[in-house]
Amino acid sequence: MRADRVHRAVYTDGELFSLELERIFEDGWVFVAHESELPRPGDFRTTQLGRQPVIVCRHTDGQVRVLMNRCMHRGALVCREERGHGASFRCLYHGWTYGTDGSLRSVPFPGGYGEGFDPAALGLIPAPRVAVYRGFVFASLAADGPDLATHLGRARHYLDLILDAAPDGGVTVHPDCERYSYPGNWKLQIENLLDGYHPNFTHQIAFDIAEDRRGASGRRANREESGATARALGNGHGLLEYSGVNRGYRADDADSAAYRVRLQERFGAERAAAVLGADLQLFIFPNLFFQNARQHYRVVRPLAVDQTEVRAYPYALAGAPDAVNARHARDLGWWASAAAFGQPDDLEAFARCQEGLAVTAAPWVLFSRGLDRERPGPGGEVIGDVTDEVPQRGIYREWSRRMGVAAGAGGRT
Ligand code: FES
Ligand SMILES: [Fe+2]
Repeated sequence: MRADRVHRAVYTDGELFSLELERIFEDGWVFVAHESELPRPGDFRTTQLGRQPVIVCRHTDGQVRVLMNRCMHRGALVCREERGHGASFRCLYHGWTYGTDGSLRSVPFPGGYGEGFDPAALGLIPAPRVAVYRGFVFASLAADGPDLATHLGRARHYLDLILDAAPDGGVTVHPDCERYSYPGNWKLQIENLLDGYHPNFTHQIAFDIAEDRRGASGRRANREESGATARALGNGHGLLEYSGVNRGYRADDADSAAYRVRLQERFGAERAAAVLGADLQLFIFPNLFFQNARQHYRVVRPLAVDQTEVRAYPYALAGAPDAVNARHARDLGWWASAAAFGQPDDLEAFARCQEGLAVTAAPWVLFSRGLDRERPGPGGEVIGDVTDEVPQRGIYREWSRRMGVAAGAGGRT
């Protein structure tokens, strides 16, 4: 690991991958669900923190709980379903049953256990820390460490800008997400989400089609002279900032005009203009990404050193006209669904990277672009031109810190 490059082992070494799950996904804040996926008590979904399965559910007290998905009898997964609704979780193996707060509610034939049997001590184990920011639920398996606000840091400024686009103050997620996977390391995806260098080449055909059909294109935005920027926000978070360069919310038709008025009433003219003009691609380390112009977020899930799954969740802005929400959902489908014009080309690039990285004669992957023209920005940001690899260097600074590897060290990693 050096300031301007990472070793190929970072993408190919199975032992490093296990260490990443332990030190990044099991020892820090990780996004697990949005509250609107669980509107009623008893609603649940399952996911993983690193290698460890968890249930995210809403209890009857209205609180969202994150529970380790592991039966306290003999260790079976208590809940296999991806999502659903129920008053309790019953283990398939011997029928121990748990409440949505994790408490052990019943054990079949309890007389078989002696005096010392204590159901109160045998509830599902809660994740040590759970915190919610504007409906986004994060969990950490580490009992200690920085709180969520500290972890989000400067990213919060941009997350607020994205979420303030909902005049009624919140977003509602569509739980039927788009889902894709690729034969490559998870970091190929997170690097790419903040990569303003590749679109003119990888997405050349998509831009040609967009120009033919609509006269619109992202091509111009991904040039050095466009004024768009690539930013490292600290803690591994990063941003591509196209505000004022790309279209933002295109508040130019009748539906959008009504929407603009609603935002002005809520936030005042200046903030409403900033919100409507925002065109942001925001990555929150290690697994959450927003693209507000295509109104969705994505969750990156490492499955193996060379296998990754990504889920894309369209969301609706509470209080925005239906036509505005529908337009953004269409844009997402056009770009990032399984048969779309944009995203599938990225997946081909990831697969090719993973295959090419098998070559041992060239051990280094270069992230030196724009190193000499980085400039400081507000709130500790590091800013570069949109094609620069500033956010990727930010990702690997955090990666190194979390993995206990000195950035700038000349060793293999
Ligand atoms: S392992 Fe769950 S009840 Fe036995
Ligand atoms: Fe791309």
